[in-house]
Amino acid sequence: MRKVVIAGNWKMYKTQSEAKTFFSEFPAHLKATASEAAIADQQILICVPYTNLAILQAVVPAIGNANFSIGAQNVHWAENGAFTGEISAPMLVELGIKYVIIGHSERRQFFGETDDTVNKRLKAAQTHGLTPILCVGESKQQRDRNETESWIFSQLAADLISIDQNNLIIAYEPIWAIGTGVTCDSTEANRVIGLIRSKLTNPNVTIQYGGSVKSDNIDEIMSQPEIDGVLVGGASLDPSGFARIVNYR
Ligand code: PGA
Repeated sequence: MRKVVIAGNWKMYKTQSEAKTFFSEFPAHLKATASEAAIADQQILICVPYTNLAILQAVVPAIGNANFSIGAQNVHWAENGAFTGEISAPMLVELGIKYVIIGHSERRQFFGETDDTVNKRLKAAQTHGLTPILCVGESKQQRDRNETESWIFSQLAADLISIDQNNLIIAYEPIWAIGTGVTCDSTEANRVIGLIRSKLTNPNVTIQYGGSVKSDNIDEIMSQPEIDGVLVGGASLDPSGFARIVNYR
């Protein structure tokens, strides 16, 4: 049975006071948008900037939803060391963090992350009991050149070397759909996610779609049989919009 995971990715948005404001409003919106069709045991998380991790762990109980977690947006592969600006898995574990995004396209594009470093970060996360959300996806140029499948298969082959597929979430995020308002057609996202699944040894890995997910397209996206959840950037910053996404129908 594949678990539904609805995840927000705040990227580099929200100071501590802005984050607290979000969480003072979010529980009421969650209640207001709750639908009977909502799946009771779905996992909900928001991956926040490092500076918000500790304070938000403290406010999670007030949400009143045992399936809600705070996650991180990256983790280094070493336990500690001279790696200025990085955060290690034991540092996240100490805060009670259970989920971490790894290999987001913005990390790959702007911060030189490679399949090799992504693989090392995945291994470190799993070694310390964190569940990684591995992001893969093609650029517009790769799609136009019909390289979508070969590119994603090569990312998976390199990123997943010696990775435990029993403790893994994958997000298919076409780069051209991230932050652009251009959503990948839901049937096309469903097709690519099916292809990703065909390359896995564990058929029960949760595979999300990410890229311009909003409250007005979530229902259609989640109606696709291969899509087990979403990774939401911009629309996760708004408490009412994200609550409606969590409570898709
Ligand atoms: P977006 O971002 O929802 O703003 O397109 C998605 C992501 O980068 O995870």
